[in-house]
Amino acid sequence: MAKQGKKLISFTGGSYDVPSLPSAEIKKIYEEASSQDWSDMLQYGSTSGMGILRSELSKFMAQANIKSNPSNEIIVTTGSQEAIDLVTRVFINKGDIIFVGSPTYLAALSCFKQVNPKFVDIPIDVNGMDPVILEKKLNQMKNSGKKPKLLYIIPSFQNPDSSMMTMERRKHTLELVEKFDLIVLEDNPYGYICFEGNMPTPLAGMNNSGRIMYTSTFSKIVSPGMRIGWITANNEFVSKMVEAKTNISICNDGISQYAAAELLRRGDVAKQIPKMIKVYRKKRDLMLEMMETNFPKKIKWDEPKGGLFLWAKFPKNYNTDEALNGAIQKGVSYIPGSVFFTKSVHNYIRINYSLPSEQEIVEGIQILGKYFKENIK
Ligand SMILES: Cc1ncc(COP(=O)(O)O)c(C=O)c1O
Repeated sequence: MAKQGKKLISFTGGSYDVPSLPSAEIKKIYEEASSQDWSDMLQYGSTSGMGILRSELSKFMAQANIKSNPSNEIIVTTGSQEAIDLVTRVFINKGDIIFVGSPTYLAALSCFKQVNPKFVDIPIDVNGMDPVILEKKLNQMKNSGKKPKLLYIIPSFQNPDSSMMTMERRKHTLELVEKFDLIVLEDNPYGYICFEGNMPTPLAGMNNSGRIMYTSTFSKIVSPGMRIGWITANNEFVSKMVEAKTNISICNDGISQYAAAELLRRGDVAKQIPKMIKVYRKKRDLMLEMMETNFPKKIKWDEPKGGLFLWAKFPKNYNTDEALNGAIQKGVSYIPGSVFFTKSVHNYIRINYSLPSEQEIVEGIQILGKYFKENIK
């Protein structure tokens, strides 16, 4: 617990900036819904999602060059998290090999772990996953007669380190996908929060072979509470995942799906994205400025060009898991980097700038900076 009477400043999750949530737009949508719309919302719906939402999502993805047939190549999911779970249930069995970034999204790792796979780590640097090492590992595996089941990848502003995979690396990775006959799950929740220029084309927009499954979500651009995510893949993969989703939830919540479709149709999502980029860029800048003046020089970080997180590296011998309790005592929480690795790595932290207010960013980084200065030898 933080000091009594003092509120804990949380730099942990990837939650939305509360004042920016599109409450007014959603309220208007429900006020204007017809009785037929309400019947559609309140009845059981199709497992793959409301037809109007799938059509809107197909158009939305087409802007990123991703082609999808809304009738049989898209499933609306309960956030991207359910998409990751569907892929796990349908494609991964005990002992299967999954290639993952190192570091990578903690809840994808824990989802995959349900079925006891084997992870092969591919290092991530500021330019994303390194395809040269990927190729080396794929060759080694081929020579020993093995084949990975899945490559899980977050090319744009990946969680936790906000790295951005270069176009060159994307192209190289796609060559490997073809050469080694790989199946890929591309996870893109953060690509839209791009501080400089346009969102880079996702892998799924650069390859039509049917090997890339692509998931994205409303959680970072519109609202995480709506629980609207989706996955697009070839028809064969989609029908297997629809079967799995029937067993989990029958269908997504209709009230939320209707609002999602309308937000897309009315152009509210298109307006919300640049608004959020502005809000998050300002918060990122403030956090960077505060870290620059308050953090000890031994802690290093790269400037995120998008996304919601800062990823900071500590001296090798500093254990950020052990330091967390002390930070909480002082009034600030962060995520220790260890949870994003399949191996034991303890000298990183992930700090979030989307949820805290500007005042909390200022105070929280001052507190953390002082604490780390006292603790790092
Ligand atoms: C990389 C990544 N994938 C998927 C998700 C799941 O998001 P949601 O289920 O809210 O769409 C998150 C959430 O933080 C994430 O960071």
